[in-house]
Formats: sequence, C-alpha cells, structure tokens
Amino acid sequence: MKFFLDTADLDEIAEIASWGALAGVTTNPSLYAKIGGKLEDFQDHLKKICELVDGPVSGEVTGETRDEMVAEGRELAALADNMVVKIPMTVEGLAACRTLSDEGIDVNMTLVFSVAQALLAARAGARYISPFVGRFDDICENGVAQLEEVVAAIGNYDFGHEVEIIAASIRSANHVREAALMGADIATVPYSAMKKCVMHPLTTQGLEKFAADWAKVVNA
Ligand code: E4P
Repeated sequence: MKFFLDTADLDEIAEIASWGALAGVTTNPSLYAKIGGKLEDFQDHLKKICELVDGPVSGEVTGETRDEMVAEGRELAALADNMVVKIPMTVEGLAACRTLSDEGIDVNMTLVFSVAQALLAARAGARYISPFVGRFDDICENGVAQLEEVVAAIGNYDFGHEVEIIAASIRSANHVREAALMGADIATVPYSAMKKCVMHPLTTQGLEKFAADWAKVVNA
C-alpha cells in the first residue's frame, strides 16, 4: 500500500516528503480553507504542491454541473503533469469523470461511501476511487468494513483501465493497518496520523535501552 498525505499544507508536505516514503497528496476545499487559502492563489498553490511531490496530487473541483466540473478539471489538469482531478460522487460528477477520463485526465472520485458508488465511478473511467473510512466511524458505522467491501468489489472486475482504491478519511495508525491488510492500494493519511504511524512504544523503549547501554560503552 502506498502512502499519500491528506493536506494542503506545504510545510507538512515538505516534511513528510523528506521521509522518503510519500507517493502522493490529496487535497480538498476544506483542507485548502484550513490553511487560510485564498481563491486567487488556489492554482499556484496546487502547482507548488505538485513540485514538492513525486507522485499524483489531487485537486478538487467545486462546480456542481458537469460542464463546470469539466472546465475546472481541464484547468487543473493543465497545471502540472502529476495533477489529478478530484470529483465528487454525484450524477454530474460521473458524467464529468467520463469526459475527463476520455481526454486522458486522471480522475479521483471522492466522497464514496458504497460499493455501488465505487463501481459506477470505475465504470465512468475513474483512475482513483476514494472510499471514506473515518466519516463512517463518526456516525457509529464501521468504516473499515465499508472500505473492505469496496476493495473486494472493485477487485472482482477488470475495468479496462487501472483503478486504485484510496482509503480516505483515515484517522489512525489502526485505520492504516486495516487498509493495508485488506489490500487497499493507497491510504491518504493526515499529517497527525502519519506521525503516529512512525511511533511504537516498544521502538521508543528499545531506543532508550540502546542509548543507556551505549552510554556504558562510552563511559567505560
Ligand atoms: C479524501 O481525499 C479527503 O480529502 C479526506 O480523506 C477527507 O477526510 P476527513 O473525513 O478527515 O475530512
């Protein structure tokens, strides 16, 4: 499973990219608003992200009709070679996905919460499909089980083009573990959860012991 970072924050992206394990970035309107992004800077900001990351970067459209989404999607795709157009799972979104995919533009279908939605996205040409995990947990549903169904269903078919499942709305290292065990292609992980993925109490404890024992060697 590959790691994407779910953020629009350039410092977070630069830091996690420096770890050497980052394969892509996903953004959305909320994440751009969170960093205080301004409308007039949006495209330049996406370009900067695309320069920082060696891998696909999803930028989301905000139009509601297929024509608006297609026009925005074409503009976003022209920003950089690694730009992916993120489109919400609606009827208009499906139609826009088909048009953009036919033009060779990679689409990430977002806000996917069911097998039926995921299958429709794949059939409409989506290159990436983003089922959300944490938002199911937020409403006392089992987000991991929902993701597992999507991974299994998409794995049953050949769509005639590559389709990768991005486990989205990830909140913890345990979500990452579950997504990897079921064979999700990618997990897009927020900065805070990404940092937690590095940590393990036994690693910390082991390091402390090595340091203490090494001090004995140095001071002998
Ligand atoms: C997907 O690409 C979305 O950006 C994302 O994972 C949303 O997650 P949230 O539920 O934490 O907002």
